Amino acid sequence: MQRVFSGVKPSGDFHLGNYIGAFRQWVADQEGHDAFYCVVDLHALTEEIDPAYLRQKSFDAALNLLAVGLDPEVSTIFVQSHVPEHTRLTWLLECTATMGELRRMTQFKAKAHGQEAVRVGLFTYPVLMAADILLYQAQRVPVGDDQRQHLELTRELAQRFNNRYGETFVVPEAAVPEVGARVMDLQHPERKMSKTIDSPLGTINVLDEPSEITRKVKKAVTDTDGEMRYAPDEKPGLANLLSLMAVATGRKVDEVAAGYSRYGDLKRDLAEALVEMLRPVRERAAALASEPGEVEAVLRAGAARAHDIASVTYARAAEAIGLLS
Ligand code: TYM
Repeated sequence: MQRVFSGVKPSGDFHLGNYIGAFRQWVADQEGHDAFYCVVDLHALTEEIDPAYLRQKSFDAALNLLAVGLDPEVSTIFVQSHVPEHTRLTWLLECTATMGELRRMTQFKAKAHGQEAVRVGLFTYPVLMAADILLYQAQRVPVGDDQRQHLELTRELAQRFNNRYGETFVVPEAAVPEVGARVMDLQHPERKMSKTIDSPLGTINVLDEPSEITRKVKKAVTDTDGEMRYAPDEKPGLANLLSLMAVATGRKVDEVAAGYSRYGDLKRDLAEALVEMLRPVRERAAALASEPGEVEAVLRAGAARAHDIASVTYARAAEAIGLLS
């Protein structure tokens, strides 16, 4: 069975981009794969975050992963810091990665831009991500478009290690959805929807109330020419709405565009489709909120299972690189 691994940072509330770019694939990949899904709390430390907030968001993240439809009987759901091999393997990989290749990472450049004191952890972030994936010998990594470059680096580090120290890691492949890999902010459609950018009206959270979802969709920025066609460069706001509608209804973008002549009608139907798509998630989250013990039990079992696999890979890598066993 193919191994799948992916992760999400608990640095805020989950939004529609996470859901469409990642979680929907994660749920689909449970079928017929051995899937590992991780709340990457160590990655959240690479930027300023309040300790109590991080703790709360890590728990909420796990709860939300169950709410979106991950089944702990089928998938392994766990918290990154509960499996110490993630940081241990990171060190070995950091000693094979170069400053030059990390400096080229566009996410690092974007996040470090304008900061006076850039954290070392923000710089080495992609190496921790490589360790996450390689520890589980994952073949397939379902992610949104913004993670492609990190996946390329992961592949490069795996191949380098294998060439230098002998076959140790499976070289993974990114699985990026055809539509919805880059959900844009509804108010600033030239930038992606994000947990950390402060754009409350431009971001639909997975647990938003129906009335909030409707309000945000209705207020979404489009353009003034009123022409209904999919043109991401010229008409990014409309293109985003058309893609979202395509994803929410399982239709092709062009078909969706052909079915409407007025932006208002598209927005009305899109709001409804998104409310329906997220309704079961909101309902499951509400039910789970009264059972915190259940979430904790899932994370305990997940960490044990993850550790069983991660410790074997780590031991192999440590041996290969020359550490005394
Ligand atoms: P994170 O937490 O930013 O996002 C989690 C997943 O959601 C996807 N995503 C989006 N997809 C479409 N449109 C958007 N606007 C959008 N925003 C986010 C991301 O592509 C991602 O798949 N570095 C990762 C976490 C990570 C990881 C890993 C992922 C750590 N280790 C190992 C895969 C494998 C991150 O910050 O994702």
